[in-house]
Amino acid sequence: MTKISIRQPDDWHLHLRDGELLKLVLPHTAQQFGKALIMPNVVPPIITTDDAYTYRQEILSGLDSHVDFNPLMSLYLTEDTNPVDVEKGIENGLVKAVKLYPAGATTNSSNGVRDFNTIGTTLEVLSKYKVPLCVHGEIVDGEVDIFDREAEFTKRILSPIHRNFPDLKIILEHITTKEAIDFVHHTPDNVAATITVHHLVINRNHIFKGGIRPHYFCLPIAKREFHRQHLVEVATSGHPSFFLGTDSAPHTVGAKESACGCAGIFTAPVALPVLAHIFENEDSLDKLEGFTSIFGANFYGEPLNPIFVTLEKSNEPIKQLSQVSSNDLQVAVFDPEFDIHWYVKDQDD
Ligand code: DOR
Ligand code: ZN
Repeated sequence: MTKISIRQPDDWHLHLRDGELLKLVLPHTAQQFGKALIMPNVVPPIITTDDAYTYRQEILSGLDSHVDFNPLMSLYLTEDTNPVDVEKGIENGLVKAVKLYPAGATTNSSNGVRDFNTIGTTLEVLSKYKVPLCVHGEIVDGEVDIFDREAEFTKRILSPIHRNFPDLKIILEHITTKEAIDFVHHTPDNVAATITVHHLVINRNHIFKGGIRPHYFCLPIAKREFHRQHLVEVATSGHPSFFLGTDSAPHTVGAKESACGCAGIFTAPVALPVLAHIFENEDSLDKLEGFTSIFGANFYGEPLNPIFVTLEKSNEPIKQLSQVSSNDLQVAVFDPEFDIHWYVKDQDD
C-alpha cells in the first residue's frame, strides 16, 4: 500500500511549554492533529481552572488563524488541589483530564503527589463526571531500579487506586512495559493506556549506543527490546484501550546535552510518518486510524475529527528535519534511525 487516508489524528499527551518555545513547537502539532491533551507541567504548573483558562488562551493566540486545532486542558494534581475548583472546570467544559505526577518522578513534578491518600476527594469528582485521571506511572523511590519503576508503580500505587475507585477512568500514560499492558488487559474498560511514538522505536540500548545519547533519554526510560516488541504488538492490534499520546516533550539542545540532561523527546514533526512506518512493518496499516484518531476520542467522550488526512509513501526516503529553531532556541527532532518514506500529504473533507 502506498497511500492511506485516515481520520485526522489526536494527540492525547502533549507538552507544548510556554513563551517562545511554545511558539516554536506548536505548529508542528497543530498542522497535523485536530486536538491534543496539553500537559500541565509548565513552570509554574497549571493547577487551577483559572490557570488552565489563561494557558489555553496563550496556546490559542500562538495559532495561525487558518489552523483549526483544539487544545484540551489538563490540571496538575497537587495534595492541595481544590476539588470544588476541579468540578467547576469540568462543568464549564474547560478541564478534560487531571494529571497525577508522583512528586519527583519527572520534569517539573516537585509539586506533585507524595501521599496518595490526600487526593481521594478529587478522585471522587473525576469518577462522578467520568473525567480521566492521567497517570505518570513511576514509583519515586531511590531504592527501586529506574527500569522497574513503572512495574512497581502499577503494583503498589495504581492497583489500590483502581480498587478504591472502581468507576474512575484511569489512563496509564506513556507505557513502556509488558506489566503495564497486562494491567490494562486485566482491568475493565474504564482503564486505558497511551503509547508514545518513541517507545515503539527505541529500546534501552539506543540510549547507550557508542556513547551516551541524551536525545533518547525520556521518562519513563525506554526498556528492554522484549517490552518494545510487546508495545508494538498491542499498539498495532486494534485494541481500543491503547491509543496515541506522543509525549512529545521539547527541551532545548543545551538542556538535553548537559551533565544532567532533561528527560523528553520531541517527536511531533515526525510522529505520523514514523507511526505509518511501524504499522506498515507489522502489516497493520488498517489499524493505524483506530490508534491515532478514534480510540482516544472515544475514551474521552470527545467527537471524532471531521476531516481526513492522507499519508503517502514515497519510493525515496523523505528528508526529515533534524531540528527546529528560532532566534536562540534549538530543539532536536526525534531521529528514529531508519529511513522514513511516509509523509502527510493533504487534508480533505
Ligand atoms: O520524558 C519526559 N519528558 N517524561 C515526562 O514525564 C515529562 C516530559 C517533560 O515534560 O519533559
Ligand atoms: Zn509527558
